Amino acid sequence: MQLAEKMSRLGTESAFEVLVRARALEKQGKNVIHLEIGEPDFPTPAHVVEAGKAALSEGWTKYGPSAGFPEFREAIAAYISRTRSIKVAADNVCVVPGGKPIMFYAMVALLEPGDEVIYPNPTFPIYESIVNFLGAKPVPVPLDESRGFAFDLNVLRDRLSKKTKMVILNSPANPTGGVISKDDLKQIADMLRERDVMILSDEIYSRIFYETEPASITAFDGMVEKTIILDGFSKTYSMTGWRLGYGVMPHWLANAVTQLAVNCNSCTASFTQRAGMAALQGPQDAVTTMVKEFRRRRDAMVKGLNEIPGFRCVLPAGAFYAFPNVTGTGIPAKDLANLLLNEAGVACLWGSAFGEYGDGYLRFSYANSMENILEAIERMRRLSRRWER
Ligand SMILES: Cc1ncc(COP(=O)(O)O)c(C=O)c1O
Repeated sequence: MQLAEKMSRLGTESAFEVLVRARALEKQGKNVIHLEIGEPDFPTPAHVVEAGKAALSEGWTKYGPSAGFPEFREAIAAYISRTRSIKVAADNVCVVPGGKPIMFYAMVALLEPGDEVIYPNPTFPIYESIVNFLGAKPVPVPLDESRGFAFDLNVLRDRLSKKTKMVILNSPANPTGGVISKDDLKQIADMLRERDVMILSDEIYSRIFYETEPASITAFDGMVEKTIILDGFSKTYSMTGWRLGYGVMPHWLANAVTQLAVNCNSCTASFTQRAGMAALQGPQDAVTTMVKEFRRRRDAMVKGLNEIPGFRCVLPAGAFYAFPNVTGTGIPAKDLANLLLNEAGVACLWGSAFGEYGDGYLRFSYANSMENILEAIERMRRLSRRWER
């Protein structure tokens, strides 16, 4: 029996692969510092856990509506309306198990073979994976290190064609930590306003920023009608294992996405939605504390990376990743990532795991303790004698 041909076009996330290799080394007795993982190291806030437990006791253990409970969709619509300064309603909201299904469902609902999808590169690898799976054409736009990993807007303009059906934005971004400035978003909105395209705006890191609050493209005239906002609870509330996310999109598309959910996951776990409600409507101090700590770690991580010979790292404006350029070491980035894991016990990802234009970079997640971050920097500094010239 053969797998379907389209399976050969499906990609993956290397973070999981590196995690397996790091765990194998740990089994042999090696100490590994995990800087490869893309999830906050903080616990889910206690009041959210309590709400989840209470929901289980109260019997929120059955099927619910496919698009999510109406009161939860309303709470999300109110939250998005408030934080993005736009007006959306409950029927624009689809609740799904994590942010990821929104990518899949929205693309399945919209893309035909041959349609072009413009997306940042390097980026979250799942976008390209799904585009290829559906027989659509990925059209990468390289991110520019000298602009804090924003697009070169001229390149973006050049890549737009009659076949462009979707443009993907991700701000703050994985793997670069870059944030698209308000001015760039305005120019992108101006480029897209008259075009028959949809924007997938992945805003899963919207609350994890440092100096300036990221804007959403939906803030600009005519964009709400063209945009799918992807957001969720995994990163903001440290709820990766609860599997809770949502998309906010025009009503006609929300109906299609809900129909896909009926066919695929029926609904999102009911007690999880109750916990999400508590997260959105309860105290936000856990988020503030987490972001404050991430900022401290970011500063230490970037300073440390910049002191390693051959490394050059821009200050990321959001998310919890540092993305240093390591071409100065003279070692191909993937080989360097393997060397760091095997010889220094530092697990990280190589930039091309996020697309061809990520080559020459490494991604370090600073969702780990300050002590471990400083130890990882020290280990890499010691190992750097190997390539110091
Ligand atoms: C840019 C981006 N979007 C979406 C996701 C998926 O989030 P979730 O775990 O809620 O599916 C991730 C997770 O790493 C991400 O980095």
